[in-house]
Amino acid sequence: MSNAETPEVTDDDEFVVGRTSDLAEGERMIVLLDGAEVGVFNVGGEYVAYPNWCPHMGAPLCEGPLDGTIESSFDKETLETDLSWGREDEMLSCPWHGFEFDVTSGECRSDGQYKLREFPTRVEDGHIIVSLGFA
Ligand code: FES
Repeated sequence: MSNAETPEVTDDDEFVVGRTSDLAEGERMIVLLDGAEVGVFNVGGEYVAYPNWCPHMGAPLCEGPLDGTIESSFDKETLETDLSWGREDEMLSCPWHGFEFDVTSGECRSDGQYKLREFPTRVEDGHIIVSLGFA
């Protein structure tokens, strides 16, 4: 099969959502799969997918700002703390109340009781395939 052909999926819960070339690093797409809105993200060349639904109060989470965050480190020898900006395009903020989610893990950094359920993804022949079966 060449890269121009769309792979066939055999599982009922699998969907070809687009080409890898259509989703650059740090970008996302929102797709409708079997009636469910799903956010698909390219995080450093890895593809992750989550429901477009915030577990706090149901906002369209995957449409929120995608940014980095402040990271800190502490040197026990000098007792100095260093703050730096990092993890660019890995932090997703909910558009309603601003809860911050790590798109690499689904963890909520604002409130530990919330975590995103990830949809399995894979790449085949240059296409991104998402399964609605949870990982
Ligand atoms: S609905 Fe997302 S933080 Fe409240």
